[in-house]
Amino acid sequence: MSIEGLSDDAFAWYRLAGPNPNAICKCTPEVLSKVGALGQAKYTALRAELERLQAAGELFAVDYTVLSGVIPGDPKEIPQFLPSPIALFRLNADAAARARMPITPVLVQVKADAQDLVLQPDVKKQYLGDAFTSADGAPDFSWLIAKTCLQVADSVYHQGFTHLGRTHLVAEAFATAAHRQLSERHPLHRLLMPHFQGTLLINSLASRTLIDENKPVDILLAPNLPQLYELVTADVSAWKSRDWSPDAVLARQGMTASEFPHMFPYRDDAMKVWEAIKTWVAAYMHISYRDDHVLLERDVEVQAWIAELKTTGDVKWLAEAWGPKGHNNLPLLTHLVSTVIFTASAQHGAVNFPQLSVAYTPAFPYALYSEIPTDGEPKTETQYLDLLAPMEIAKLQRVVFLLLSSVYHTRLGHYSHPLSFRRYFESRAARRAAAQFRADLARIGRDIDARNAALVDAWVEAGKPRKEAALWRYLHLHPDKIPQSINI
Ligand SMILES: [Fe+2]
Repeated sequence: MSIEGLSDDAFAWYRLAGPNPNAICKCTPEVLSKVGALGQAKYTALRAELERLQAAGELFAVDYTVLSGVIPGDPKEIPQFLPSPIALFRLNADAAARARMPITPVLVQVKADAQDLVLQPDVKKQYLGDAFTSADGAPDFSWLIAKTCLQVADSVYHQGFTHLGRTHLVAEAFATAAHRQLSERHPLHRLLMPHFQGTLLINSLASRTLIDENKPVDILLAPNLPQLYELVTADVSAWKSRDWSPDAVLARQGMTASEFPHMFPYRDDAMKVWEAIKTWVAAYMHISYRDDHVLLERDVEVQAWIAELKTTGDVKWLAEAWGPKGHNNLPLLTHLVSTVIFTASAQHGAVNFPQLSVAYTPAFPYALYSEIPTDGEPKTETQYLDLLAPMEIAKLQRVVFLLLSSVYHTRLGHYSHPLSFRRYFESRAARRAAAQFRADLARIGRDIDARNAALVDAWVEAGKPRKEAALWRYLHLHPDKIPQSINI
């Protein structure tokens, strides 16, 4: 279960605990300048306040203006429309409420070149004095439409880039090179293979059953399929040109714990799991190489694995970072292997399993089905409903994503030999380190349980029934729910 709908709280929560938690960034002056409609005279006071919040580090943005050049497809000859929105959020001004909801939405510009903005109703009332109704007193759906536009771009970005590209395809490069270059008895083969189990199979299956002409991705996602291929390919290549360990990514978002000292469930849980993975990999490397980088230099299999990743694997970041002969590359190898294991286990879990909420189509649409209004004027319910997917397409989305979010195979840290009576790791020291890894993960699980219990209590105190409050727990990085590998 998950929270549903597009209330302002849910809309804000999806940024910090939704399917796409690497999109929200600390707003910079450059990003703020992309909200072009803010230049209008009527927004002078609002613009000044946003500039103040930005300077104070209390303004956040989700920027999808990059989608402005993407041409929507028309699967089944039903025209689709793709927004290129940018949304701004501010730190919740109510300090007590921050314990359950740290940020709150301010505005959405639905397209990169929209003539006007859609303001959150309270913000609109404060700065423009307008009530949340149209001239004839009918409810105004413009804010719900604007949030829906942001969700479309976020959902497309999530499936194409965050999920498919940055986990499934990135892991494939490492898995393929490992299968080619590391023999079965090599210690890195032994460590990595459980984290690649099923990845090549699911990627091959997905390319035939999901991501092809007239298949679900083509039908559901607004971009035309050839252009989506191009975009994903370019994004994966760009992603592999920089370190994508979670601390590096969160630093690029400007959302590390020191930059955003508030609850960010994805970040808070991801960093704990990341630290546990790093400790485990460092221990395993110590056992395998005894801190002697010359042993690594003489390890022809790992050298071949790295060489293939740098060339065929297109890991440009690694090509730059790997030192020449004589350099101690052991810390880098430890960091790289930790990043690969995190990507294949925790990161994929964090972006795959929220697809359960994605199955609720009005909150997570992948395309719009009528022209996107950009004039900032009040809108009717009919205009909102016309934007949503036809029933057949909505049903397809529901079926596909319920399936993809329902398969949990294997559990992080639980290494087992196919013949269950044999130990997976031959070395006693490695088995001890693996047991410590599982103990660390169990402790993280208890921390997450405690955080979630406090979160539920905070929502109950705010007036929600306990059953409803329980839906706000963040469970996707609970170690019990993180598979070892990308296998769905
Ligand atoms: Fe997946």
